[in-house]
Amino acid sequence: MILDIVILAAGQGTRMRSALPKVLHPVAGKPMLGHALDTARALGPRKIHVVIGHGADKVRECLDADDINWVMQAEQLGTGHAVAQALPHIQNADQILVLYGDVPLLRVDTLRSLSQQAGSQALGLLTVNMQDPSGYGRIIRDAAGRVQAIVEQKDASTEQLRVTEGNTGIMALPGNQAAQWLNGLSNDNAQSEYYLTDVVALAVSQSVPVEVSQPASELEVMGANNRQQLAVLERAWQSIQSLRLMTEGVTLADPERLDVRGEVTVGRDIFVDINVVLEGRVVIEDNVQIGPHCVIINSVVRAGSVIKAFSHLEGTEVGEDCDVGPYARLRPGTRLQRGAKIGNFVETKKADVGEGAKINHLSYVGDAFVGKGANIGAGTITCNYDGVNKFVTRIGEGAFIGSNSALVAPVEIGAGATTAAGSTVTQDVPAQALAVARSRQRNIEKWKRPIKTS
Ligand code: UD1
Ligand code: CA
Repeated sequence: MILDIVILAAGQGTRMRSALPKVLHPVAGKPMLGHALDTARALGPRKIHVVIGHGADKVRECLDADDINWVMQAEQLGTGHAVAQALPHIQNADQILVLYGDVPLLRVDTLRSLSQQAGSQALGLLTVNMQDPSGYGRIIRDAAGRVQAIVEQKDASTEQLRVTEGNTGIMALPGNQAAQWLNGLSNDNAQSEYYLTDVVALAVSQSVPVEVSQPASELEVMGANNRQQLAVLERAWQSIQSLRLMTEGVTLADPERLDVRGEVTVGRDIFVDINVVLEGRVVIEDNVQIGPHCVIINSVVRAGSVIKAFSHLEGTEVGEDCDVGPYARLRPGTRLQRGAKIGNFVETKKADVGEGAKINHLSYVGDAFVGKGANIGAGTITCNYDGVNKFVTRIGEGAFIGSNSALVAPVEIGAGATTAAGSTVTQDVPAQALAVARSRQRNIEKWKRPIKTS
């Protein structure tokens, strides 16, 4: 079946009170339209047509991709008009599926069954039974329960308003009928808009079958018109993520205090404490423990490692059985080999830290290779930057860097070498040697302290 998908995203979203077009407001760190695109892609369409209008340039710039055909709708004359703008770009489709750029929680399964039920010959509607359907178009059925039409709230009679089956707006149009229906719409209604929903009565009048399906939950089809609704969607998304992680074998100290903004892959018997944020692509292997208030972005944490409270990891690979934090900051390009230990107030960047090496306190290690079993004393700084260029520091296996050493790169500390505390090391240190690079202590006997003059 040749499937084309049209996503409506031209509206302004006035109630967001924002310079950002509504569909770019994020849920779980991703624009709402990005979620709709992901769902659309999962169905393997021939093309995705996104109808844009308000903030069109920003929307396109933010989400442009090869499989998207951007369609401009200069004036928002209604949902039917919006879909019609995409029609000239759609040839011989079996089905045209209409989605909304501000409905991010729709599940692929729900959409797939709508699409499959409708096929190429029927009109497919996704409807939802609601406690409070106000604002929604109502599904009008005859005495036998057959769908007759959709009537918009503003056009509905008192009796029609009592109907609790609402139109989600998501719809599958048979490709061979779409053009004829959409071109035949009128805007003779309460809002003077070309309603997409009017195709239902047209289908019925032409004896085209109407297939109705429903989502598993109302949240799936909920859109965000304001920031309150956006927050509801965000929490709903997060609760889905937490449930999934628990199902896969992760213990969460509090499922309501974990935020996932990306794709997280987990092993089993992982413990995640409260207020953790996982962003981008994160992989967490078996038996990892993550302490409270950690932020982990685009990183891998291998089996058995412990990330203690308030640590911030980005673009980092933590090997097996490592110990990180509390208060560690691992920046992009950090790679910890098995059993390495990074303690409090340590910042690393582009640092390869060897097996079992330790950087326990108050250090900056950047553009560096730290050998297996090396010990980096408290307050050690790799001086990697001269204000213009960056240079590399190499620290050999089993080296011992005394506290408060400044290692001025480019510099190499040989295997098993030692630097004396407080050294400013500007030259390479041979293996096994001791480098002392600090002024010698002088003691002045019987020193008289100054006395207060007046
Ligand atoms: C629409 C449906 C209604 C349904 C509701 C679900 C119609 C006529 N009504 O009503 O039955 O219950 O959605 O939320 O379809 N848009 C465009 N261009 C336009 C008009 C709209 O891109 O010219 C986009 C908007 O940005 C929005 C979506 O289409 O994302 C829905 O438009 P909106 O005007 O909010 O439709 P509703 O009145 O909510
Ligand atoms: Ca709406």
